[in-house]
Amino acid sequence: MLNGKKILIGISAGIAAYKIPYLIRLLKKSNAEVQIIASPNSLNFVTPLTLSVLSENPVIVEPFNKETGKWNSHIELANWADLILIAPATANTLAKMANGIADNLLIATYLSARTKVFIAPTMDLDMYHHPSTIANIAKLKSYGHEIIEPNVGELASGLQGEGRMREPEEIFAVIENFLKKKAH
Ligand SMILES: Cc1cc2nc3c(=O)[nH]c(=O)nc-3n(C[C@H](O)[C@H](O)[C@H](O)COP(=O)(O)O)c2cc1C
Repeated sequence: MLNGKKILIGISAGIAAYKIPYLIRLLKKSNAEVQIIASPNSLNFVTPLTLSVLSENPVIVEPFNKETGKWNSHIELANWADLILIAPATANTLAKMANGIADNLLIATYLSARTKVFIAPTMDLDMYHHPSTIANIAKLKSYGHEIIEPNVGELASGLQGEGRMREPEEIFAVIENFLKKKAH
């Protein structure tokens, strides 16, 4: 059980975002607290309503509300988390994380984090094998982050190969293992 553990999930705009609601279910069943930060583009793939109902927390997308001035503190969000998971991690989000381009709340929060960061990349075969993606992933590893390597299989584009995000059960197991080890 992950009793009371605080898991922050950053969702970016990959088709595999459809797997995240199920991952949230697994974490909540295990008594974890879950907070979702979604990149603006990711909401084309999964609805804020689904994510907020399952996580029992409002989904956070924007740094502030233009009308009211109410703002979300990326620093508080980063400090709240026991663990940060970026899943799915698009090529774009990986590049921004690797290079400190904080043009949305998700990346600003990531850059403010001192806790362990897990990253589950997902993309088409060619994007995954592009030298830029390879270099960005190597950089992220050098920062001490853990890459949850994608699977080989059928991709949403119809191509076969590397780039499928790991299944929710597998990602859950990685998180659980890490938090168990940390507790001992
Ligand atoms: C149907 C569709 C599926 C996509 N899937 C992926 C994907 O799996 N991985 C990826 O890196 N980009 C994917 N993209 C491209 C990203 O959505 C695009 O680069 C976007 O700007 C990323 O935004 P974000 O990283 O800020 O969330 C997809 C685009 C479309 C239209």
